[in-house]
Amino acid sequence: MAHPLEKLAFRAAQRVRTSWFVGQKRLLMKLAEPVKLPPEIAERMPDRASLMADLNALLRRDRENVEAGRYLPPEDLLVNPVRAIRDTIRYVADLPAVGARRKAKANDEVFRKTPPGRYPRYYLQNFHYQTDGYLSAKSAALYDHQVEVLFNGAASAMRRQALIPLGEALAGRRGAHLIDLGCGTGRFLREAKANHPRLKVTGVDLSPFYLEEARKALSPWTGARLLQAPAEDTGESAASAEAVTAIFLLHELPPKIRRAVIAEMARLLKPGGVAILLDSIQFGDLPDFDPLIEHFPLSFHEPYYEGYAREDFAESFAKMGLTLQGSERVYLSKLMWFRKD
Ligand SMILES: C[S@@+](CC[C@H](N)C(=O)[O-])C[C@H]1O[C@@H](n2cnc3c(N)ncnc32)[C@H](O)[C@@H]1O
Repeated sequence: MAHPLEKLAFRAAQRVRTSWFVGQKRLLMKLAEPVKLPPEIAERMPDRASLMADLNALLRRDRENVEAGRYLPPEDLLVNPVRAIRDTIRYVADLPAVGARRKAKANDEVFRKTPPGRYPRYYLQNFHYQTDGYLSAKSAALYDHQVEVLFNGAASAMRRQALIPLGEALAGRRGAHLIDLGCGTGRFLREAKANHPRLKVTGVDLSPFYLEEARKALSPWTGARLLQAPAEDTGESAASAEAVTAIFLLHELPPKIRRAVIAEMARLLKPGGVAILLDSIQFGDLPDFDPLIEHFPLSFHEPYYEGYAREDFAESFAKMGLTLQGSERVYLSKLMWFRKD
């Protein structure tokens, strides 16, 4: 992206994309019954201007990474009007049901509907109060749009930052293997394949419905496998991957399972391999944003989030033989990467 016009076009597309999702977030906030925040949280919430400044910093970083050739321009930068309108209609149509669950603090619909024995109990919850939890085609079709609205259109740009340590880990290695735990609809794997077409990738997720979306997302490429399995016990061979990622996964897991997933990441990696985490910011990363962390589980069903936000991951990974290489806050997320000794 050397030509000034290309740079301008990229910037304009970023603006359109952000405005689209920011607009929907505002609409959501108007339509939804406001969650009453305790005053000690409400009075410390960061103002809109500082959040927008931080979002703009991420957009600049994303642009600079593309300009420097660190990764390819993302294909979802240009809002596809047909898809955008379809997703918005679905999303808005589902809002009353989500709002009703939020009001009633109802998070066990998915548990009551699912026959016992198929999934771990902690998984059978309406995370975010979303319809069907992770267990329907409808939920899988809505997910990416919902996450973009939640993050003001920045979810993909935050995920892309994990491509930087991934690229470093893969440099000079042929036939490398990446395992993405909790791969969801395959958004990160798609960008990993676009940037490293010869990379072997395996996506692991418990939801057959999200894996089906991932299968569609990865259909242009060969060398992509999708596996329905728990991230804490994938059944994959030990020391079989150069890189293992977990993106927006750990904050949804009970503490014991989080530790088991970290142990599994360590087991899956070859010596010298890299584990990459991209997930929510934690307490203290930017003290001004701490009230956002306190607010999140009050508005969205996130029973394990507070424990996640307080965990010392450098220590948790070190216990499994993985050493912290870097840690950066990226808007509302945090990127950490670790090397297996
Ligand atoms: C918040 S979503 C994140 C999805 C994706 N990584 C992304 O970047 O959007 C969490 C995903 O993890 C999956 N998941 C949750 N617990 C899991 C577990 N124990 N094992 C495998 N997948 C799990 C869910 O089905 C869902 O697809």
